[in-house]
Amino acid sequence: MTDRYGVIGHPIAHSKSPVIHRQFATQTRQDLSYEAFDIAPDELTQELNTLIESGVKGLNVTVPHKNAVADLIDELSERARRAGAVNTISIDHNGAMKGDNTDGIGLIRDLTKNLDIKLENQRLLILGAGGATRGIVQPLLEAGSASLHIANRTVQKAKDLAEQFADCDNISACRFDELRELQFDLIINATSAGLSGEVPPFPESIIDADVTCYDLSYSMSDTPFCAWAREHGAAVAHQGWGMLVEQAAESFLIWRGVRPDTAQIRSMLPKSH
Ligand code: ATR
Repeated sequence: MTDRYGVIGHPIAHSKSPVIHRQFATQTRQDLSYEAFDIAPDELTQELNTLIESGVKGLNVTVPHKNAVADLIDELSERARRAGAVNTISIDHNGAMKGDNTDGIGLIRDLTKNLDIKLENQRLLILGAGGATRGIVQPLLEAGSASLHIANRTVQKAKDLAEQFADCDNISACRFDELRELQFDLIINATSAGLSGEVPPFPESIIDADVTCYDLSYSMSDTPFCAWAREHGAAVAHQGWGMLVEQAAESFLIWRGVRPDTAQIRSMLPKSH
């Protein structure tokens, strides 16, 4: 029997997850279907129950449900608990939900395997301190970075996040304007400002030809952050398409026990620059 999977979000029509997972299923010869389910926030609990009752085996979770879903899950993985967010749900035959978060590992795989970007002993900067940042701090620290700086418009949120890793002496937080005197090897944009076409007031001095920029957002054309970075002299500015594919591959691995090869689907998506 065909196993059913899907992604829940709101809105969801733009989601590339169905295309990605169907390609993975064909490639690995897995008998499964994958659909997109548009669920409004106030209907989350009820609609999730309906999907479980209908026999769905697994779900990806996207904006705006990643945090809310974490409270509804029966068992959270350590990385989902740390991130305070779930992007992958596995549902067992009793209807119990296990929650995981593959965003962090997806980013690390895209950076290190696909883009050949070194993380060991590098000075990293994350711009933004929301849910997206929460999911990537731990894996970036574990990848051996020399230092990890978090800058945010609301500085207290960055400080609170850094505080959660108080056992690490190489993590710090500040406002955007305090970045002026600092230099980094890799800058990751995790703000959602690009969704409204904006680039926050990041100091231009953080960009030079030696810095690598990476935007967790992705778009059919250039994202505002990638365009801004290149305009100010960054030699490379990648969009988050690769992370999208890699986090999907990790979800697929959790569900089906087989890791799809991501090269083919990555070649079909818009190129990073
Ligand atoms: P996500 O889950 O996508 O990270 P979020 O939790 O709402 O979404 O966080 C959005 C992040 O983008 C936050 O760091 C937010 O800054 P604040 O904490 O100050 O709100 C940042 N952000 C969004 N729009 C922004 C803008 N126009 N300028 C600067 N930062 C912005």
